Order: sequence, then structure tokens, then C-alpha cells
Amino acid sequence: MDLKQHIDESRLPQHVAMIMDGNGRWATQRGQERIFGHEHGVESVRDTVKAAAEVGIPYLTFFAFSTENWCRPHKEVETLMDLLVQAIQNETAELNENGVRLHAIGDLDSLPQRCRDTLEEAIETTAHNSRLHVTVALSYSARWEIANAAQKIAQKVADRTINPDQVDEELFSGMLETANMPDPDLLIRTSGELRVSNFLLWQLAYAELYFTPVYWPDFRKQHFFQAIIDYQRRERRFGKVKAEALTTKNA
Ligand code: IPE
Ligand code: IPE
Ligand code: MG
Repeated sequence: MDLKQHIDESRLPQHVAMIMDGNGRWATQRGQERIFGHEHGVESVRDTVKAAAEVGIPYLTFFAFSTENWCRPHKEVETLMDLLVQAIQNETAELNENGVRLHAIGDLDSLPQRCRDTLEEAIETTAHNSRLHVTVALSYSARWEIANAAQKIAQKVADRTINPDQVDEELFSGMLETANMPDPDLLIRTSGELRVSNFLLWQLAYAELYFTPVYWPDFRKQHFFQAIIDYQRRERRFGKVKAEALTTKNA
């Protein structure tokens, strides 16, 4: 059954954030090394990007590597970085043809030079696109991002560019890595883990959370569509009461 036909295209989430989890367990189940799972996860990213483009979701963000993931075995980290370079090199032309604009968030300076160069090139190549914004979070953690934003603001106050009383939610959001992006409406995490693992803590304030037991390498378009359908069945209240919430979401 094609689930896409059950999606209401007038009520799509504007931003879907993905925690791609379960690569290691997927590989272990098959008697393989964890890396095998990461390799297969690339196809899931391709399928998810296609699914988002097909239904017309404008922002899609992938948690690809967390600050904490640096503490994994050296070989796994190195292979993940190689996979990243390969995937970007292989996919950029197709992303570009499909109107996808690539972004990266996180402590990009901590990435190996080869990753930074490949990323920079792909970001530049796709910079004129606007159909779908795909963001990859690399060496990212929300606490790092929030502390960084606080530091930038403190510096502006010290320089007397702004007064402390000008620091409000809007200014703070603008100092985050996600400045200019809408907050995620929907967070999808694969692999059955029920946690956020330091991802977009500020931005997820009112996101709908969707957890699936499917391991990331098995995640395909139909799983993505299923999550969107589930999202569309929910009632978002933003702290208000039902009728008000529907009419004054942004008030
Ligand atoms: C997600 O899969 C990929 C990254 C975090 C880079 P994992 O590697 O975390 O796989 P599990 O959770 O150990 O199965
Ligand atoms: C979250 O997955 C990070 C990414 C998907 C990149 P982890 O596998 O690192 O999270 P924990 O350790 O299970 O919380
Ligand atoms: Mg994991």
C-alpha cells in the first residue's frame, strides 16, 4: 500500500528532524562489524531525502555525528568520516538536480580537513537551491550549541553592541546554529530508543516526537510517510486550549 496518498499535503510539518540510530545493532544482528550498518545507513538517508522532497517538506535535518560520538573507537570514527566524504561526493550532483540545498551545523572546525573541504564544496554547489533544505548535524550537541550562543551574546554585551535587556527568545534563536530555520515540528528517532541524546534541545520545545523500533539501515520512504501520517493525527495545542490553538498558533 502506498502510504503517501494518506498524507494531507496542506498540513505538512515544515521541518522534520531525524535521529538516525541503530546502525551498530543492525550490523551485529547480521554478525557483521558496526561499520557495515553505517554503510547501509547511507541508502536510508537517500530514501528519506526523496520522501521529503516528494511530499514537499521544506526542511529536513539529520543527526549524523554527535559531540559525544567522538568517544567511540578511533576506527569507527575514522570510517564514519570517510563515509561522510564518500556520500557527499556521490550524492551532491543528484541533490543539486533535485533542488536540494545542503547545510551543516555543529562544531565543523573539529572535523578532519577532508570532511570540511567536501562539505564546503557541496554547500557551495547547492547554495542556489531552495526546494528542500537538508541539514546534516556533525560534531553537534545541543548543549554545545546553546553554550556557544550564550558566549556570542555575552561578547556582544561586552562590546556594547546590545544591552542585556535585548536578550530575548528571538535573539537567542538567531545565535543558534539553526538561525533562519523553522523549529522542527516533528522529531523521528529510529531503533527504539526513547531519548533525545542532546539533539536540538532548544528547537524541539514543541516538536511532536515519533519513535520507531526500525533500525536506521532498514528505514525507508514508507516509514517516513507513516511518521508523517501519525504526526497529522495529533492535536498540537502549544499550551493553549483546542480551538485557540488551531487559530492562533503563531500569535
Ligand atoms: C547511529 O547508529 C549512527 C551514529 C550514532 C553515528 P549507532 O552507531 O548509534 O548504532 P547503535 O545505536 O549502536 O545500534
Ligand atoms: C544519537 O545516537 C546520535 C546520532 C544519531 C548521531 P547515539 O547512538 O549516539 O545516542 P545514545 O548514545 O544511544 O544516546
Ligand atoms: Mg546509537
